[in-house]
Formats: sequence, structure tokens, C-alpha cells
Amino acid sequence: MINNSSLIINHSSPLTGEINIPGDKSITHRAIILGSISNGKTIITNSLLSEDCKRTINAFRMLGVQIEIQDKTITIYGKGLNSLKTPSSKIDAGNSGTLARLISGILATQEFSTTIIGDESLIKRPMDRIIEPLEKAGAVIKSENGKLPMSFDKPLNKPIEFKSLIPSAQIKSCLILASLFINGRSSIDESVKTRDHTERMLQYLDYPLSITNTKIFIEGNNSVFAKDISIPSDISSAAFLIVASLIKSKSNITLRSIGVNPLRTGIIDVLIKMGADIELANLREVCNEPVADIRVKSSKLKPIKLAGDIISRLIDELPILFIACACCDGVSIIEDIEELRHKESDRIKSMEEGLMNLGINVKSTSNSITITGGTFRGGIVNSYGDHRIAMSFIVSGFISEKPITVINTENINTSFPNFIDILKENNNEIYHI
Ligand code: S3P
Repeated sequence: MINNSSLIINHSSPLTGEINIPGDKSITHRAIILGSISNGKTIITNSLLSEDCKRTINAFRMLGVQIEIQDKTITIYGKGLNSLKTPSSKIDAGNSGTLARLISGILATQEFSTTIIGDESLIKRPMDRIIEPLEKAGAVIKSENGKLPMSFDKPLNKPIEFKSLIPSAQIKSCLILASLFINGRSSIDESVKTRDHTERMLQYLDYPLSITNTKIFIEGNNSVFAKDISIPSDISSAAFLIVASLIKSKSNITLRSIGVNPLRTGIIDVLIKMGADIELANLREVCNEPVADIRVKSSKLKPIKLAGDIISRLIDELPILFIACACCDGVSIIEDIEELRHKESDRIKSMEEGLMNLGINVKSTSNSITITGGTFRGGIVNSYGDHRIAMSFIVSGFISEKPITVINTENINTSFPNFIDILKENNNEIYHI
């Protein structure tokens, strides 16, 4: 758990042996949400109990759902689709875009009014992308120019028919969740396929939902059957240790039971293309999600050019991929990444500024970045309170000539609370300052 806000990585050692990665954040959010509107008891194992997921638990407790936590197991006593109660105060989504956007789909269908608020990062992020389709289906929503706080004043009254032009699993999932509560058939079309955990989990819970190419059809007002859910370990968290092992010589790690949903494994495909020694073994299916063990050995990486549909398959891994690119001999160009400007920070700006501070040559446009590999000289970078920026720059400390100080790191707790502990257990010198 990170309490102090700045971290310095002073000395690094190779990563070796088996490393346990916590549960997947996207899937844990969905398991809590669907468990809460299911018709019985759900036991969720290997769940991620990070700050973001605890916000989701809190939100559903405020909506009257009984939820118990013991170690990494969450037990939810669902009472069906129509059981949610008026919360006694505003729902605080904290730093979590996934919570704010997914729960909006449910709140926009309820007879009672609610308001969602968020932290200083979340209130700057766009919500108009969900407000518009929800309003088209009859909801009345008040917001601050398309941003939080957002109040739901009148519920949806007709099925949703929507084609999303922004590649976003949060928009899609918001609308799928809303569709569960509306009589009739809703359809949501994605222009580019994004992570499909909501669809997979609903099908696992025997909900009538079908998919044809990029189009999802949902038959509203059916039961979400309660079943136990085992959460795979998070490939997005694993990515930081994968890249650290690749760039730090003599590393050799094994990560067990990692979620390898094909819409999340862009980072593995791209790193292998760059020359990474990565092997997947023991591929299996758990609760309708593919899972595998991943072995990684340090490797010499080559620069890469990326654009198009691959971007949505590694959207959260782009900051750590930029670090990998900065370690190659040559120039990497990554295009079509405009969505990075709308994450927990403007990730193109935060990464460009941090990499330049550390001695790496970077150029960006509104939707692309060009990184010329070089030597990390060490220095100070600001993560702007963005967990993935903070962890990316901590990893750059594995090959830096001099120590790297990362400021504003407490939000690592939103997704990977034991990240620093894992590095310390592997003899890396990291201090709070
Ligand atoms: C998420 C979807 C992605 C991703 C985020 C988690 C989800 O966001 O970046 O970290 O769980 O649905 P967008 O839908 O905004 O691309």
C-alpha cells in the first residue's frame, strides 16, 4: 500500500521466480456490479481490492446491497434487477472512470434520483460520451458541461439502439447494463472491438445476450443468475513486471493465471514482435475468460510502428510500452492514440514530459507519439496522480543510470496496491520520500 506521495527507485535487481499478480480490475468491477443485480449469492474469489474496486463495493452498499469482504473474497447477496434502493448521499466514484461510467447505465434506469461525484482527475474526464446515448433513450441527466458531477433525474424509457464511434468498453458496458433494465431488445454496435468482459460475464451468468460481429443484442428485463466468479490475474498489472523483466538483464519470471482475453493481449503480441522472449502456457478457460501462465526472460527489444485497431487491445499498456520503446535502438512511432488524452491524466503529455526529463527524445502530435530509444539518465518525473504513469516510470528505474524520483504516486493503490512490495521483495531499493 503506497501512503507517501513520492517514490525513489535507487537500485534495481533482476526479477526472478514466480510473482503473484492481483485480480483483474475491469473484471472485478463487473463481478461486483453483476453480483449486486443478480438473483442470489455470488462469491467472487481472487478479486482485486484496490481503491477503485472498493469504491464500486461502496456504491452498491449505498444502493442497499449486502456485500461482505474477507481477504480477496467478496460475497454479494443479490436480490434481483429491481432491488436497488435510493442512496442516502451522492455516490463518490473517486478516481474510477470504469465505476462512474458503468454504474451510470444502471442509475439512468432507476425511478429514484442519484448523483455521481469524483476526485480531481475524474471530474475532468468526459462523460458526454455516455450521457448522449442514455438521453437518446429517454433519460434526463444533469452534468457540468458533460463532466461530473452528474445527476440522474428521469429514467430511460425505451430500448437502446446505438453505434459507438469512440472505441470504449466503458461506453459499451454502460449501455449494456442500462439495457438489462429496459423491456425489449437493445443493440449496441462498436466501430472497433473493445474488451468484452461484460458480455462474457453476462453470458456466463446465463443472461440472453448475443453478438454478431461488432453488434451486441440484449433482451431486457431477464434475470441475472447468481454464480460464483473466479477473477483472473490482471494482464494490465502484469505488463509492468513483464516490461521490467524484459529490460533488466538476467530476469526470468513466471506469472500464473493471467487473464489473456484476446481483446487485452495486444501488449503480449506487440512485445513478441519487438523481440521479447515471452511464452504462454497452460491456456484454459475460467468463468468464460481465457487464462494462461506467462513466462518472461530478459530480451533485446527492437523499435515498433503501431496504428489502427491494435490500439484498443493495449490501451492501458501504452505508457509501459513507451518505456519499452525508449529502451530500443531506433525510433518507434505509435499512432491513433487520441483516447490516451482522456485517461486518468493526459497520458501522451505525462509520458512525453517524463521521458524528456529522463533524457529520452520524444515528439508528439494530438494523436501520436514518436520515441527515439536512448539512455535513461535519471531525474524527477511527475505522474500527475496517474497510477499507470507512476508505475511506468518506476519501471524505467530498472535501466536508469541514476535514481528516478516519481512524484504523486499514491494512486498506484487504485489498481495495484502491492506493486512496490513485489519489487522490494525482489531486492529492488525503492524508498518513500
Ligand atoms: C475499461 C475500459 C478502458 C480502459 C479502462 C478500463 C473497462 O477505458 O482504459 O482502464 O474496464 O471497461 P475506455 O472504455 O475509456 O477505453
